[in-house]
Amino acid sequence: FSVNWDAAAAEKGGFGTFMEKEIHDQPKAVEDTLLGRTDASGRLVLDELRIDPEELKGISKIIVLACGTSAYAGMVAKYAIEHWVRVPVEVELSHEFRYRDPIIDDSTLIVSLSQSGETMDTLMAVRYAKEQGARTLAICNTNGSTIPRESDAVLYTHAGPEIAVASTKAFLAQITASYLLGLYMAQLRGKLFQGEIEDILADLHKIPGKIQEVLDGGDQIRELAREMAQEPSVLFLGRHVGYPVAMEGALKLKEIAYIHAEGFAAGELKHGPIALIDQGQPVFVVVPSPHGRDSLHAKVVSNIQEVRARGARTITVAEAGDGDVVDYSETVFYVPETQPLLMPLLTTVPLQIFACALAAEKGYDVDQPRNLAKSVTVE
Ligand code: G6P
Repeated sequence: FSVNWDAAAAEKGGFGTFMEKEIHDQPKAVEDTLLGRTDASGRLVLDELRIDPEELKGISKIIVLACGTSAYAGMVAKYAIEHWVRVPVEVELSHEFRYRDPIIDDSTLIVSLSQSGETMDTLMAVRYAKEQGARTLAICNTNGSTIPRESDAVLYTHAGPEIAVASTKAFLAQITASYLLGLYMAQLRGKLFQGEIEDILADLHKIPGKIQEVLDGGDQIRELAREMAQEPSVLFLGRHVGYPVAMEGALKLKEIAYIHAEGFAAGELKHGPIALIDQGQPVFVVVPSPHGRDSLHAKVVSNIQEVRARGARTITVAEAGDGDVVDYSETVFYVPETQPLLMPLLTTVPLQIFACALAAEKGYDVDQPRNLAKSVTVE
């Protein structure tokens, strides 16, 4: 008698790699992170925070500390929290933070973002901030790990264990948790009306289904990845919350496909990076929502035209129904519509699928890329 059961494949949920599985786990990662955080009347309750609401009301500045992918989640958090809470938010790489004499006092809230909760650079930065009198809050995916244990407060992401070295579902869960933190602070401080908070939460609850739609359209992205496997360099442009998404898209390609990739703020193009564009250079552009702020959408569309005119191969990630990008894009990946600030939860997904498929096409070990560790416990 033998059981015909491939344990490794089962662990990977039938996918070839953990990274693919974790990309497909994302609807659930976001859903679980949102779960149980509102009361019957729709108000956010973050009891687990273990921080006095009065103290959160008195915070005058937030500093987000993180490394790698988590730092890009922190950049997304800055846009949302500043907009909703009207408190200044700085985002800093943990390893730079304590070597620059930062200005911290007891009205400073340190928000650390770490999937593992064990990243030494982030842990040391949190310890340093605590010594200087700051309040510390950890957004973390690993129960009982060191950073949340040493912090005053914790908000767990519920992405489930992440095995692949390159972070995917933890990233979306971190962004989700930082939105919850922002909305909670806005609620405490009366910065948004309850109805506004409920509208944003309702849109957040629709995100898992929309991520699923992006996943369902994954073949188009995988096909492009196969076609582009020999490209030596790929650039990514984004603006507003699309800027950290562009950097995350580039990081994914570096990490697992060993391709030179860089993410830029689209507005910076004319100040340097446009010199890199020549015939056939692939450029991904994360396009802001046409319903977003001012003329951002139009500005990014004109960036697409500019790089295209210089020979770039343009690949855009745009909101469904955005017809303005079609004429200037070789390929368009559409994501469902949502509030402009929530878009990273959708626009990141095609970039993850792209990197994963491209690395697999090159025959690399997607889950265990060379030279990298899942959790870096040395400084
Ligand atoms: C390592 C991993 C990255 C991760 C970073 C931060 O460098 O390879 O994927 O983003 O650490 O990890 P953390 O656990 O603190 O989020």
